[in-house]
Amino acid sequence: MHWTTSHTQTEQIMVIAVDGPAGAGKSTVCRLVAEKLGFIYLDTGAMYRAVAWALLEANIDFENHILLEETLPTLPLKFAIKDKALSITHLEREITEELRMPAITRYASLVSQQPSVRDYLTGWQRRLATTGNIVAEGRDMTTVVFPFAEVKVFLTADLSTRARRRQSDYRRKGITVEYPELLEQIRSRDQADEGRGIAPLRPGEGALILDTSSLDTAEVVHCLLSLVKSKVEEEESLMIR
Ligand code: DC
Repeated sequence: MHWTTSHTQTEQIMVIAVDGPAGAGKSTVCRLVAEKLGFIYLDTGAMYRAVAWALLEANIDFENHILLEETLPTLPLKFAIKDKALSITHLEREITEELRMPAITRYASLVSQQPSVRDYLTGWQRRLATTGNIVAEGRDMTTVVFPFAEVKVFLTADLSTRARRRQSDYRRKGITVEYPELLEQIRSRDQADEGRGIAPLRPGEGALILDTSSLDTAEVVHCLLSLVKSKVEEEESLMIR
């Protein structure tokens, strides 16, 4: 097996799959790890947000399962990899940035519980991962979408740390949400993500569970890069034998 940044049919694409609850630091860490390795960074939460956005725009009731299943392939959404990151367009317009709005956050959590939405996006995610080495983050990367990923990590942190991190993220974007409200939002999202019947949030088999509560970004990035390095060394030593 041989990992490179350009691919021929004999070369293997490396997948780094990262899951974890809201505010565990997945996005920041995964973006940096991808940048350092020259890998694609895939934010699958943005894909669930985009479907929520498109369903709202089309005024589709996601609880009407038959209508939802019929509508999904016809939504004017496009997912593509541009400059090693996910680009999402709706009616040819780039919407990646708008998707972080709190109203979309709540709606995406509900929409992500629909099996047809999960199937639709799992297909997209696997297709996007055929284009190059990738760091994919979400809630079901290590369990459902990429259970055979070379590196699997479950990032977590205690609730108050995650709420504080989310508050700073919002502040940077000029959005004000009070801390108690944020705490409650994250708690209820945790319950929804962990308790749903399909693809519940949990670490995949063999995933390293990393509590980031008392770690800074650089330490978590270092830990992931060390994991990747030991994986590559392990594969290389197998090839020599
Ligand atoms: O990571 P995020 O906050 O952008 O995710 C938005 C919603 O999508 C969140 O409620 C969980 C859901 N999600 C999911 O169910 N599976 C994924 N792979 C990624 C996100």
